[in-house]
Amino acid sequence: MTSRGVLPAALLLAVAAAALLLYTALPAAAAAAVAGDHSTLDKDENIQPLSTLNMAAARVMMDAGSVIHASPELLGANGEDSAWVTVNFTTPAPTDGHWIALFSPANLDLIMGGKQSSSSKINAAGEDEAPTGLPMAPIKYKFANISPSFMSSGSGNTSFLLINQRYDYAFGLFSGGKDNPKLVAVSNKIAFANPKAPVFPRLAQGKEWSEMAVTWTSGYNIDEAYPFVEWRMKGEENAKRTPADTLTYTRGHMCGKPANAEGYRDPGFIHTAILKNLWPNRDYSYQIGHELPDGSIVWGKSSTFRGTPSPGQASLQRIVIFGDMGLGQTDGSNELAGFQPGAQSTVDRLITDLPNYDAIFHIGDLSYANGYLAQWDQFTAQISPIASRVPYMVASGNHERTSHDTGGFYSGDDSHGECGVPAETLFSTPTVNAGQRLWYGVDRGLFRVCVGDTEHDWRPGSPQYEFLDGCFAAADRKHQPWLVFAAHRPLGYSSNGFYAKEGSFSEPMGRTLQNLWQKHRVDLAVFGHVHNYERTCPVYENTCTASPGSSPAANGSSPAVYSGVMGGTIHVVAGTGGARLRGFAGGEWPQWSVARNESYGYVKLTSRDQSRMEFEFVRSEDGQVVDGFVIEREYKDVLACIVDACEPHSLAN
Ligand SMILES: *[C@@H]1O[C@H](CO)[C@@H](O)[C@H](O)[C@H]1NC(C)=O
Ligand SMILES: *[C@@H]1O[C@H](CO)[C@@H](O)[C@H](O)[C@H]1NC(C)=O
Ligand SMILES: *[C@@H]1O[C@H](CO)[C@@H](O)[C@H](O)[C@H]1NC(C)=O
Ligand SMILES: *[C@@H]1O[C@H](CO)[C@@H](O)[C@H](O)[C@H]1NC(C)=O
Ligand SMILES: [Fe+2]
Repeated sequence: MTSRGVLPAALLLAVAAAALLLYTALPAAAAAAVAGDHSTLDKDENIQPLSTLNMAAARVMMDAGSVIHASPELLGANGEDSAWVTVNFTTPAPTDGHWIALFSPANLDLIMGGKQSSSSKINAAGEDEAPTGLPMAPIKYKFANISPSFMSSGSGNTSFLLINQRYDYAFGLFSGGKDNPKLVAVSNKIAFANPKAPVFPRLAQGKEWSEMAVTWTSGYNIDEAYPFVEWRMKGEENAKRTPADTLTYTRGHMCGKPANAEGYRDPGFIHTAILKNLWPNRDYSYQIGHELPDGSIVWGKSSTFRGTPSPGQASLQRIVIFGDMGLGQTDGSNELAGFQPGAQSTVDRLITDLPNYDAIFHIGDLSYANGYLAQWDQFTAQISPIASRVPYMVASGNHERTSHDTGGFYSGDDSHGECGVPAETLFSTPTVNAGQRLWYGVDRGLFRVCVGDTEHDWRPGSPQYEFLDGCFAAADRKHQPWLVFAAHRPLGYSSNGFYAKEGSFSEPMGRTLQNLWQKHRVDLAVFGHVHNYERTCPVYENTCTASPGSSPAANGSSPAVYSGVMGGTIHVVAGTGGARLRGFAGGEWPQWSVARNESYGYVKLTSRDQSRMEFEFVRSEDGQVVDGFVIEREYKDVLACIVDACEPHSLAN
């Protein structure tokens, strides 16, 4: 880590301390202060590698002997939304401090704040005296010595995977390492055939089970071209067109740095069309497009999806849940190296597994863009093969929302100035309240899933508490037996180091949702944030309320079966999407912790009818089920009296 990384951290601490002092005077805000910043399980994971490039100190030192060239110049000629680009470069005095960075837009004069190297003051050493203060971070970078011949010959080549992110691109060759960058050569410009093309469609369930939202990104504002989705039920002759809305955000929407500074990048336009009156379990095809003023159409990719099962309907239904994925890496770019080491593996597994699940809940810490907004395009590109086929439901995590003094429950700045704006614009959620409070419920046949927002207050009396009470109550358990709560931070049970140390009531004000889970017989509570896998027994107030009826076979091939009345909620931590794995607290396992694993992977729930639900934790690496259990029960088991949640009744008859 550079010394540069240390200073802001010290500053942040000072700001946090000042904030604490201020908050103590304000009763309403006191809770936020007490909450503190519990998010930082390990400081390293908050350091977006792009932030380690000291672009503010960058100088322009064009060197006639240094050359960088990128090819091909025209990308996506056949409508592709990503393309490999080979960069070759040569410099007279190669060092291990030489690096190559991808910028967009390609106009580096503009990137350098209009400052031309000719107009800058050159000192005796031939250096431009004033740092150029590059106001824009690159999108990707690699050290030049990734090319084996570079150190010996001064020439090398390497390939980058580019996605269509609007605008054109150029590469810069820098010397001086990350701390003292000097731009010595700029490449030719390269561009996608249509930089504005509609890209990366992603689905989400709508407010009604029979609605599907289709969201995508383009370079077309509403006055340039009209966005729509063309779709039809499989086997139907006639396609329908449904108009989409158009949203964007600007630098002014960001709450701090680097999101409103060197990390800012124009997001283009985000479009959402809501397809309505879908038939359950029927297959649909759709295609995104924009109609130009002359009536011609710019088409995006087409894809297919299956209609959501209606509430209470018994049919094969499978749901995937995980948190904390981030970005994978396919081209060796340093901005991703080791940042979320398991993301690519999880994405690859989810693509392979596509025929075997129907919906995804990614419960917070989505891209870890951390204020480097171009990374959000990379994230939507990464998940598009999945999210264009099954609804991709998101929850808000600390890396999306947490930002100083912006109305969130926690202090800290884990969103690095984003304060939820990119995530909440790029993904559609069926929220029924003011958009920035990301809690909602969705029905999927035998399942009802209530998604909480741990970045806003959830204690009794808060709007979120009221919402969750209603959300759980809305499940018709006769027909829709499986009630799931999902949220980012573990509001229930985890024996990760930090949570174990803080005791079982670690999150602020304790497990204040416990009485709701108990009252409504919530079957399962799934959390992210902690980067490991852990499962509890059905638990209430630290005590197991049921044990499996049949013990697992010694060879692990038959899962534990909970049958009848469970009397408590099973808590699962699955922050295993890709961010660096974490261990567990040492010492004895708490009695409620029945399974643990340190693997990248995801939870999969499967049910076909009202009496049986299978739970699996699937390892990304090989698709193996490394943990699982089964719940078997009938409706009367849901109605049964359990501790602290007996309905009042009279003995009269
Ligand atoms: C890079 O490759 C192009 C052809 O793709 C070639 O014309 C150019 O001379 C090469 N430049 C360097 C610096 O190797
Ligand atoms: C890229 O560099 C390797 C050596 O690192 C060399 O063998 C190869 O020919 C180069 N390819 C191009 C297209 O320049
Ligand atoms: C594991 O045990 C179960 C029941 O004890 C048995 O049916 C199964 O064949 C065993 N599987 C393997 C791979 O040995
Ligand atoms: C995770 O589960 C797999 C499969 O049962 C096992 O081989 C592995 O040792 C477990 N790893 C950890 C760290 O618990
Ligand atoms: Fe988190």
